[in-house]
Amino acid sequence: MKTIAIEDEVFEEILSEDDIQTRVKELAAVLHEEHQNEDVVFVVILKGSLFIAADLIRTYPGRSMMEVIRARSYKGKKSSGMVEVSMTETADLSDKTVIIIEDIVETGKTIQAIHHHLRLKKPGRLLTLSLLRKPSALSNPVAIDYVGFEIDQAFVIGYGLDYDERFRELRSIYQLKE
Ligand code: IMP
Ligand code: MG
Repeated sequence: MKTIAIEDEVFEEILSEDDIQTRVKELAAVLHEEHQNEDVVFVVILKGSLFIAADLIRTYPGRSMMEVIRARSYKGKKSSGMVEVSMTETADLSDKTVIIIEDIVETGKTIQAIHHHLRLKKPGRLLTLSLLRKPSALSNPVAIDYVGFEIDQAFVIGYGLDYDERFRELRSIYQLKE
């Protein structure tokens, strides 16, 4: 089992680079199968989703466009509960199939705030993909249409996910050991 120690905490690898890349390819294929005849716009949620977005969009076998939105809520290992959404000036999304790419959904508050902003742009369809989902997300009304992996309710880092802005560069995903 691969682990990394950060100060006095231990993180254990739960998804290897290979696990992630295999799943991202599967997701890209499913998206293409279901949306190849539509105008697809991927909306990347900065900063965490940069990594999965770069892999997914390049693996997606069809044409697509990309927009970015910034959302912030986390402080350290806990969500602050307040979601700040910015950089929402996107190109025209009317009649487009908008697919939000998230790294992780925990309470669902972030995704709810993003949906609120994007619905104002009147997209033809508004869909959400999240690489990871924690069990707590299930109590949120926003449906996640595509989920990479269901994980336990513990803090994770790597592949875009940060601990106070660090460790985004890790190629696998590690979970805090209690
Ligand atoms: P939510 O609003 O509670 O669903 O949280 C979503 C956002 O919080 C994600 O987009 C991440 O940026 C961040 N987040 C949630 N869980 C984790 C985690 O375990 N590690 C790092 N960031 C997380
Ligand atoms: Mg995020």
